[in-house]
Amino acid sequence: MSKKLIISNWKNHPDSLAEAGQILDTVDEFSGSLGEKELSLVFCPPFVFVEEVGKILKTSHLIHHSELGAQDISVDDNMALTGEVSGPILRRLGVRYVIIGHSERRWKLGESDEIVNKKLKAALRNEFVPIVCLGERARDNNFSDFLEEQTLSTFAGLNSDEVARCLIAYEPIWAISTTPDARPDTPESALASISIIKNTLLANGYSLMANRYLYGGSVTSRNARDFLGSEGIGGVLVGGASIKRDEFVKILAIAAELQ
Ligand code: PGA
Repeated sequence: MSKKLIISNWKNHPDSLAEAGQILDTVDEFSGSLGEKELSLVFCPPFVFVEEVGKILKTSHLIHHSELGAQDISVDDNMALTGEVSGPILRRLGVRYVIIGHSERRWKLGESDEIVNKKLKAALRNEFVPIVCLGERARDNNFSDFLEEQTLSTFAGLNSDEVARCLIAYEPIWAISTTPDARPDTPESALASISIIKNTLLANGYSLMANRYLYGGSVTSRNARDFLGSEGIGGVLVGGASIKRDEFVKILAIAAELQ
C-alpha cells in the first residue's frame, strides 16, 4: 500500500516550546527505528513555534519523514492586518503546507466561505500545498447539499491546475474530538462523503488524485488502521491525538506497518 499522509494539527497546544520539543523527540526516536521505511508527516504547530519546530525537523531523523505546516494564513500578502501571518513570512520559515478552512475557524471564529476562499488563493499564490477542510455540522437530510455548496464556494474562481494542487480533508464537525459527544466517522461513511465532494468537483471540471482526499475527526490508535487502510483515503488529519506522544507514535506505527 502506498505511503499515507499524516497531518498533525496541534491547534493551540502545547503550552511551551519545551513540550513541543518533547513531542518531536518522541516522534524522532520512533522514526529513527524505522530503518528503510519512511513516514509522510506534516507538523502544523501554533505560529509561535513554527520557526523552532522547522529547525528541529531539519536537524533530526524527521528530516526524512516530515514537512512543516501552518494552521492558517493571511488573506493578503502585504496589506497591514494586525494579528495575521502572511504567506511570504510563512515561506521564509520553511512552511510547505497550510490548513485552510478548519471547522474551528469556520464555526467558532465565524470565518466565512468567502474568507476561506481568499485564504485558499493566498496559499496557492505562495505555492503552499493547501489542506482544505470541508465537513458538515450535522449528518441531517441536507448534509449532502451542504457539502456540495461548501465545496463550490470554497473552491470558487480556481482553475483546475490549482484545485489539483490541493489536499482535501473531510472533517465532519460532529466527529471532531472537541465537539460535545463527538464520535469518529466510519471509513465507509467518510468515503461516501468524499464521493459527494469528488462528484461536485468533477461536475465543475475539477479533479484530484484519489490519494489527495484525507479524513479527520477523532482519529486515534483505535481507529487509525481502519482509515489508513482504506483505499480511497490518502491519509488522516489528527488533532488531539497528535499531541499525546505515546498515542501519536502508536498511530505512526500503524502507518508504518501498513506500508
Ligand atoms: P481531532 O481534531 O483529531 O482532535 O478530532 C481533528 C481536527 O480538528 O483537525
